[in-house]
Amino acid sequence: MVQLSVLTCLFGGLLGLLLLVPVLLAPTPPGMCTALRTINSNLSQRRKYMQHNFPINYTIRVHYEEVFKPSNISRLKLKINNLEMFALQRLWFHVNHGILKKILRVIPERHPSRRYGAELERRFRDAEGLFVQSHPSEAFQRELPEKVQEKLDRMTEHLDSVPASSWRFVPPKHLLDNFRRSMRCLFGECFSQVNPQVDLCGNSRSKKDGKVTQRQPQPPR
Ligand SMILES: *[C@@H]1O[C@H](CO)[C@@H](O)[C@H](O)[C@H]1NC(C)=O
Ligand SMILES: *[C@@H]1O[C@H](CO)[C@@H](O)[C@H](O)[C@H]1NC(C)=O
Ligand SMILES: *[C@@H]1O[C@H](CO)[C@@H](O)[C@H](O)[C@H]1NC(C)=O
Repeated sequence: MVQLSVLTCLFGGLLGLLLLVPVLLAPTPPGMCTALRTINSNLSQRRKYMQHNFPINYTIRVHYEEVFKPSNISRLKLKINNLEMFALQRLWFHVNHGILKKILRVIPERHPSRRYGAELERRFRDAEGLFVQSHPSEAFQRELPEKVQEKLDRMTEHLDSVPASSWRFVPPKHLLDNFRRSMRCLFGECFSQVNPQVDLCGNSRSKKDGKVTQRQPQPPR
């Protein structure tokens, strides 16, 4: 009997260790990848919910820093030596948390895009929770590189103190385009398996994102 319980303990312990190991080793925990992949697939409907359901040329007022694309990521990587992915991921969560809240704020309760926006926001918060859980809390107390911190500070500035020239007026779908592209760039491990030959941080649009060029048609001259 005693032996049996010892064995059970040992086995339980081993199992626990086995379960822990992948969590400790994986740079991005699998649960978070699942959450991000679900968001990514939900975003395939962004044109319908965040463009067709809105008035033509509808824009949302955002901070200059909230226009956050893969090109921003490359620029930051160039400017800052040894910039950690983790710092960029924190910035990404911060920026997009604000964006989803802003989008939701302009959608009335009974608008046909309300449920979509609310679900995206809820899934995003879950992913953010998993992101926080997957790093030791000290990691979040560590100082960010100055340039990254400056961006965070500017986004949290009180609205009244932000000069009008620092606002950008951006269609909600464009904000979600940036959201998706920068997510795929920063959490490449979660997405690269699907299509390894595509550079997820590339600034040139892949075929799938070809809409970008259609979106700003040049008037014939
Ligand atoms: C988001 O994706 C999940 C999982 O595939 C699905 O169950 C859900 O209906 C999707 N939501 C929207 C709004 O597309
Ligand atoms: C939308 O914006 C485009 C490009 O700026 C402009 O040509 C068009 O007239 C606008 N449409 C409406 C309905 O305001
Ligand atoms: C990203 O770059 C654009 C210019 O292309 C700039 O307006 C914006 O502030 C940058 N965003 C961040 C978060 O650095």
